[in-house]
Amino acid sequence: MRIGAVIVAAGRGERAGGGIPKQYRRLAGQSVLARSIRALRDHPHVDTVIVVINPQDTEHLDAVARELDARFDTVPGGATRTASVQAGLEWMRTYGADAVMIHDAARPFASPSLIDRLVSALDRHAAVIPALPVADALVQVGDGDAVRHPVDRTGLQAAQTPQAFHLAPLLEAYARLDETALPDDAAVILAAGGAVHTVAGEAGNFKLTTPGDFDRAEGELAMKAITVTGQGLDVHRLEPAETMWLCGIELHEGLGLIGHSDADAGLHAVTDAVLGCAGAGDIGQHFPPSDPKWRGAASDKFLLHALDLLAKAGGQAVHADVTLIAERPKIGPYRDAMRQRLAELLDLDPARVNIKATTTEKLGFTGRGEGLAAQAVVTARLT
Ligand code: CTP
Ligand code: MG
Repeated sequence: MRIGAVIVAAGRGERAGGGIPKQYRRLAGQSVLARSIRALRDHPHVDTVIVVINPQDTEHLDAVARELDARFDTVPGGATRTASVQAGLEWMRTYGADAVMIHDAARPFASPSLIDRLVSALDRHAAVIPALPVADALVQVGDGDAVRHPVDRTGLQAAQTPQAFHLAPLLEAYARLDETALPDDAAVILAAGGAVHTVAGEAGNFKLTTPGDFDRAEGELAMKAITVTGQGLDVHRLEPAETMWLCGIELHEGLGLIGHSDADAGLHAVTDAVLGCAGAGDIGQHFPPSDPKWRGAASDKFLLHALDLLAKAGGQAVHADVTLIAERPKIGPYRDAMRQRLAELLDLDPARVNIKATTTEKLGFTGRGEGLAAQAVVTARLT
């Protein structure tokens, strides 16, 4: 059975606010849409994914493609969720899917086991949805704030997505649909007189609808996060020169650092520390000194690339501590500028970046002024 996933992401997210459509907002460093795409794309039973989008969102979509390190197929959606789903289903018809999972981009936390349950239920049923019993007492409220009457909760469940369907009967049900907008795809099957079955939903698979839902998501991700540290060390030879790059700042002290790139030992140490957090090896593997491409390269490129790898590993830097070891140049006059620049590169508050300097009491290569060493410790949160 070829299973395709339709992720509907063409809505405007008006109830959530936040300035941009909610599916493009980031939660702990990763966009909601990238999380939803990953949840389905990375599941072994899902063969293809189509994302239904609003063509106005090109820039946001480019950012998600960069996050995922891959382009993904998109089709333009419509004015209602129902219209958007239909656009995705047409794409799936052409693709030749046997079954589809229709998923709200705004539900980034669907688990692999939820998808397993849906896939295995597709052997028995043509329409399956995740549902959760409603826990609160329910009341019918009138136009004002007055309660009209209680609602019997027996048998009431909340429907989630992904909702899974054999494609042919779902297309038929959509073709017969005369109402323009229904709340979900199960409702379309039911309107056509079809049967829909349930599997257990997940409390964690909630839809981001209001600002409070974003707070809840941030809180839950923070609870699940682990903290890791990475450390880095770099040394470059010191020679008389007009300028030196150190921690992303240009110094004019009559000394320079010698190396293949701009030889910014500070940024190299921080880059290695970030790679350490990401479990991604060392700077030499990613930017081999043998590659002419990196001759004279500005080292902020290396750091930004390492941060990108960290983001892809689900991580975000939260703190950096750098120690520069040299007799000269004196670091004091540059300390604030270095701190600002590193904070900017790491996307951190300057209060979360520290620059220390020390000498080695005239001992060793740093003591003799032959070289400068830099050490860095970076702390990151992984979710
Ligand atoms: N959706 C869609 N096309 C629409 C409307 C909604 O693809 N015309 C998608 C949304 O992007 C979302 C899902 O359907 O992933 C569920 O809809 P909802 O939570 O209502 O999202 P929005 O419509 O974006 O939010 P709001 O109603 O608050 O504006
Ligand atoms: Mg909506």
